Amino acid sequence: MSTKVTFWPSGVSVEVKPGTSILSAARKAGILIQTRCGGNAACFMCKVQIRPGSDLLPMADEERRKLAGLEQQGFRLACQAKARGDVQVDVPLDPLRAAVQKLLAKQAEENDDLW
Ligand code: FES
Repeated sequence: MSTKVTFWPSGVSVEVKPGTSILSAARKAGILIQTRCGGNAACFMCKVQIRPGSDLLPMADEERRKLAGLEQQGFRLACQAKARGDVQVDVPLDPLRAAVQKLLAKQAEENDDLW
């Protein structure tokens, strides 16, 4: 038996065994999720947003403490959240990539003004 984890915005899916962490599923799918603590729920860098209707195992107290209410908006730590059934995951943009995209968009906007 396996579950399907789909990562957005890429739409890449991967089949994993139930109980697999979202971080492990991402690595299997070739999706980059930033980490600094090696999956120990300490760095908070692996925060992802889980889409409604996804089927995850119940959250442990330690993860709930770390999220401090963000879980109510669908956020989970990818290193701690484990798939039970199918899961849809929104992966935030890498902060550096997001900054570059913002600059390029601004530059394109300025270039449009010149014409
Ligand atoms: S990898 Fe550090 S909190 Fe998840």
